[in-house]
Amino acid sequence: MTLNQTHPPALNDAEVEKRIKTLLNRMTLPEKIGQMAQWPGHGKLDGDLCDAIRKGQVGSVLNEVDTEILNEYQRIALEESRLGIPLIIGRDVIHGFHTMLPIPLGQAATWSPELLEQGAHMAAREAREVGIHWTFAPMIDITRDPRWGRIAESLGEDPYLTSVLGAAMVKGFQGDDLSADDRLAACAKHFAAYGYSEAGRDYAYVNLNEHELRNIVLRPFKAAAAAGVASFMTGFSDLNGVPASANEFLNRQILRAEWDYKGFVVSDWDSIIQLITHGFSENEKEAAAAAINAGVNMEMTSRSYLHHLEELIEEGRVDEELIDEAVSLILRIKFKLGLFEKAVIEAPQPADVPRPEHLDIAYQTALESVVLLKNDYHVLPLNRHAQRNVAVIGPLADDAYEQLGTWTFDGIEAWTETPLAALRRELPEHVQIHYAKGLSHTRSYDRSGFGEALEAASRSETVIMFMGEEAILSGEAHSRADINLPGAQNELLQELSRLGKTTVLVIMAGRPLTLDLTRHTTNALLYAWHPGTMGGKAIVDLILGEKTPSGKLPVSFPKHVGQIPIYYNQRSSGRPASRDSYVHIDEIPVRAPQTSVGNYSFHMDAGFEPLYPFGFGLSYTQFNFGEVYLEKERFAMGETISIYIDITNVGVREGAEVVQLYVRDRFASITRPVRELKRFKKVLLKPGEWQRLSFELTSADLEYFCKNKRWKAEPGDFDVWIGSDSRAHHHAQFTLTA
Ligand code: GLC
Repeated sequence: MTLNQTHPPALNDAEVEKRIKTLLNRMTLPEKIGQMAQWPGHGKLDGDLCDAIRKGQVGSVLNEVDTEILNEYQRIALEESRLGIPLIIGRDVIHGFHTMLPIPLGQAATWSPELLEQGAHMAAREAREVGIHWTFAPMIDITRDPRWGRIAESLGEDPYLTSVLGAAMVKGFQGDDLSADDRLAACAKHFAAYGYSEAGRDYAYVNLNEHELRNIVLRPFKAAAAAGVASFMTGFSDLNGVPASANEFLNRQILRAEWDYKGFVVSDWDSIIQLITHGFSENEKEAAAAAINAGVNMEMTSRSYLHHLEELIEEGRVDEELIDEAVSLILRIKFKLGLFEKAVIEAPQPADVPRPEHLDIAYQTALESVVLLKNDYHVLPLNRHAQRNVAVIGPLADDAYEQLGTWTFDGIEAWTETPLAALRRELPEHVQIHYAKGLSHTRSYDRSGFGEALEAASRSETVIMFMGEEAILSGEAHSRADINLPGAQNELLQELSRLGKTTVLVIMAGRPLTLDLTRHTTNALLYAWHPGTMGGKAIVDLILGEKTPSGKLPVSFPKHVGQIPIYYNQRSSGRPASRDSYVHIDEIPVRAPQTSVGNYSFHMDAGFEPLYPFGFGLSYTQFNFGEVYLEKERFAMGETISIYIDITNVGVREGAEVVQLYVRDRFASITRPVRELKRFKKVLLKPGEWQRLSFELTSADLEYFCKNKRWKAEPGDFDVWIGSDSRAHHHAQFTLTA
C-alpha cells in the first residue's frame, strides 16, 4: 500500500461480495477469529499489539488516535500478517472530534435533523483524517431518568424524536460512500434498553416488558437500521435476566430475523466476559459460547473469542458458520470503507487552527440547542448599549474544559470560547465587567468566594450567572441520586438574588436538573447543556439579542427527583390527576378525612406534572396558532391523512418555532400513551409572517406492538394536538377505519 493514494472508486456490492468470498476461503479458522477481536490502543506503540496484529489476531483497534501509530499498526497488518487484512479503527466520536458540538442531549434540543447531520459529517471529516474509520455513535438509548449519567449522551425521552435525529446522525457520519475521506462507519448503541437501568444507576439491571421494549426502546434502533447504520453495539444491561451481550432475542430474533439487519454487532467494553459477573456464564469459555451463539460478531477488548472459539467449534458447541457469518459482516464494512485500497494515510497537518466552517456548525448547533426556560419581565434580550456595570458570576462563566462536556476525548480546549470571553468581546467598551467565580468549581461548598461575587454584583445593574455541573458529573458511570445544582451554587444564587438586580442565569449541565428552588433566584433562565467549542458566543449572542432562542426540551424536567420517572408519553392509569384534582401537601387541613384529598395519581408534595415539559422552550417573540384542520375525519388502513395548521409570528422579532404534532389512540388492546409525538417542523418566521403547515400521517404511523404480539394499527378514534410543546392544546380528532 502506498501513501497518498487518491481516493479509489468505491467498490460496488457485487465486487464486495466476491472479494469477501475469495478472502474467506483463504482464511484459516484462527485468522477468522482474529478478525472478530478488537484490541484497545494506549497512545503509544504497543509491542504486544504489534505481535498480535502480525499473527492475525486483531481485526480492529479502538482508542488510538495517533496517526503515526495507527499507520504502523496498519503497515504491520498489511505487510507482515499472512493475508494483509487492514484494521478497522474505532473511536467514541460522540459529539465532535476536535471541534466540539454540544453534548447529544443538547443537540437534541435543536430538533433539527439537518444540524445533527451536518455535525456528524463535520466530526467524521476530522476523525477520518487522523485514521479513524468507525465511531461508536449515535447513542440512541431512550431514557426517562435524569439520574442516569448517560442521559447526556442520549437524544432524550421520545422514540420519534430520537429516531429522526439518530437516523440523521447515521447519515451525517456515513454519507453515501463509506470509503470517502470524510465519512465514518457509525454504530447504533446500546442495544438495548440500557437507558432503563434501575434507579438511574449506570450498569444496573433492566426489567422491561416486551410492549414497552418494542413500542418505545426499539423504535430508534429500527430507524437506525433502516438508515443503514454499519454496526450495532450490545449494551451492558441485564435485560429481564438475559444480558444484552448474550441475548438471542435482541441480536437474532429482532435484529436479524425481523429487521434483516446486514451490519455487524460489536460487544461493549468487556461486556462478554462480564457475563460471568452477571451470574449468567460460569467462565470465559461459556461466555464466549453464549455471546457468539447470541449473534455478537466482534468482541471489544476482552479476549474470550480468541481464547475459546476454536475449542468450542471443535467440540461442536459453536457452528463454524457463525464465524464465517461474523467475519463476512466485518469484512463487508472494511471493503466498503475502502480500507483494502487505502489503510495507511498521510499524517494530517497538526490541528492547530480550527476550520471556520466547522466552528460555524458548532456555533449554529449550540445556538439552537439553548432553551429559554424563564424570562420574567422580558429581561432578555439585554440591551448591550444600556449596560453600565455587568457582573459575570459563577464557576462556569470562564471554563473552556467544563463547557465541552462528557465524552470529549479529542476536543481541543484551546479552540473553545467561554461566555466571559464572548461578553468581553461583545459588550461596548464603556461597560464595566465585574467577574467573580464565587465558587472554585460546581461541587464546591467553600463559600469564601461569595464576598467577592456579592461585591461584583452590588456594583452592577445586571448580573449574569453561569452555574451547573462539571463535565465529570454526567456521562458513563456518573449517575447522581440528587440532581439539584451541586455544591453551594443554590446558596450563592439565593444570596445574589437578594440584591434586587436584573438577573440572568445560564445553566450548563449534562442532564435535566431539579430547579424548583433555583428558578426563583433569577429573572431569566437559559439552559445550555454542555454547549461545546462555540458555546460562549452562542450563549452571549442570545443574551444580547443578536439571536433569538429556539431550543425545545428533548426531555422532561422533574420538580423533584422523587417524581422520576416522569415523562410526557405516559399511559393514563385508571385515575389520572388533573390540576383541580389534587391538594398540595401544604394545603391539606389537619385531621383531613382519609378520602378528602382525592384518589388520583400524583405526589402530594410535587403534583403530577414536571417543572418543564417535553418540547418546552420560550422565545423572544410570540407565536399564535390557528385551528387544526383535517383533510378528512375518517381514513382507512393504508391511507394518508393531511392535517393543517396556521402559525403566525405575532411578536416584534424574527424567531423559530418547533411546531409539534401529538396523537392519542383513545382505546387500544394494549393501553397507549396519553400523547405521542408523531411529527414536528421547525419554522423561522419574521414579525407578522404566517405559514400554513401541513402534516401527513398514515396508518403506519399509528402502528404499535399490540395484543397477541402483533404489530399493527387498530381501527378507532384518535386525538391530534398541535402546538409549541407536549401540552399542545389545538385539537382535532379523526377515526381510523379497518
Ligand atoms: C464504553 C461505553 C461505550 C463506548 C465503549 C468504547 O464503556 O459503554 O458506549 O463506545 O466503551 O469506549
